[in-house]
Amino acid sequence: MNTFPKDFLWGASTSAYQVEGAWNEDGKEPSVQDVRPPVPGTTDFKVASDHYHHMKEDVQLFKELGLKAYRFSIAWTRVLPNGKLNPAGLQFYQELIDELLANGIEPIPTVFHFDLPASLQAQGGWSNRKTIDAFVEYCQVLFDNFGDRINYWQTINEQNMLVFAGAAIGGEQADWKDVFQGNHHMLVAQAKVMKLYHEGHYPGKIGPAPNIACVYPKTEAPEDMLAAEYMSAIRNWLFLDAAVFGTYNTMAWHILETLHAAPEVTEEDREIMLAGTADFIAFNYYNSMTVSGANTKGGGAKDQQSGFSLPGFFQMEQNEQLQTTAFSKWAIDPVGLRTTAHQIYSRYRLPLLITENGLGQEDILTEDGQVHDDYRIDYLNDHIQQVYLAIQDGVELFGYCPWSALDLISTHEGYKKRYGFIYVNRDDFDLKDLKRYKKDSFYWYQKVIQDNGLA
Ligand code: BG6
Repeated sequence: MNTFPKDFLWGASTSAYQVEGAWNEDGKEPSVQDVRPPVPGTTDFKVASDHYHHMKEDVQLFKELGLKAYRFSIAWTRVLPNGKLNPAGLQFYQELIDELLANGIEPIPTVFHFDLPASLQAQGGWSNRKTIDAFVEYCQVLFDNFGDRINYWQTINEQNMLVFAGAAIGGEQADWKDVFQGNHHMLVAQAKVMKLYHEGHYPGKIGPAPNIACVYPKTEAPEDMLAAEYMSAIRNWLFLDAAVFGTYNTMAWHILETLHAAPEVTEEDREIMLAGTADFIAFNYYNSMTVSGANTKGGGAKDQQSGFSLPGFFQMEQNEQLQTTAFSKWAIDPVGLRTTAHQIYSRYRLPLLITENGLGQEDILTEDGQVHDDYRIDYLNDHIQQVYLAIQDGVELFGYCPWSALDLISTHEGYKKRYGFIYVNRDDFDLKDLKRYKKDSFYWYQKVIQDNGLA
């Protein structure tokens, strides 16, 4: 029996635009996700899993599953549509938080998960400095309204993937200079918000939620090791060094200068970044990366997990040691999760929370309402085993929130690619009855939580 620490937060995750639906109800403004054309072969996000109208039923299912925590995101576009406070939007999250607490589930909100208000995007989005102030104003509203009841806040989900895979997840393709200026504004916005939170003396903790993956050298060649270091610097440490140390990672900065993409950083920005730093680190992990240092031809990111190359620094490679997922051909690497946790903890010495990890696959609902997703159970089991071992190694890791609590729309591959413990009866082109069914993984995870570990 692999028993976890007594108060370990067994959780599950979602994000607002992927699960809520009700994209234009009760005063909500469209986000960049609502206005983007659907990816060919998929549908849009407008109904998603209709969680907005099934919230109480869903929370009851989370309770039955035994969740100790639920990690969700708040839609900026509900709370401050076109910059104006919307009580009906706030009310939804008020009720969700109350419902979770009443059922013994720790609410863990992410403030921003890929769904920038469309009106801000029309003014340049994150490349416009004014978006920093809009974000700070939005977060102040959240702290004012929910600050007394939230113990763990996450600022920005996968800022690094917004930068490297922005086009796949609803952003706009821009040149590196523009992308990294926008990235800098996000870092300043995040620092301002963390400072604001600390100065408000709220009872909880706040931190970032990037996608972090350990990077292997393709071979034992020293150049491959150096390439792996470069990729880690630009993909991982740039984002965490800024959030935890309040400074830019030096190797990452060198890459940015070489790409003519170094952002303009004012003295005031520097001070803000140093003054607003994280209390804990939430991170998402799906797979590891592998790179080589020779023949670095380049090549952009196809999606959040597939890797990318930078000419002169590193070339993404296939890892022949690892199997890949059926749906997206992402490497499956549970040991990589343990290594990633080690690397983060030894660099930053802050408590860690895993906020995403999971298997997206097509599921089949049988005629008698069952889903036999043993592939998902295997994937999660192997990763939880490594979480356990990471804790044994001394990593301060206080929770695991796999993706996803219930089926939702994938960022760029539609509804067919499912992640949930709970099946939602719809497909890409037919909304059906949106009825919820418990998958085999639901019962399996329920037992893991009851036993506080793996048998
Ligand atoms: C993460 C995102 O990158 O990966 C989620 O934070 C996303 O929003 C998840 O859904 C899985 O990726 P995908 O592309 O299969 O939905």
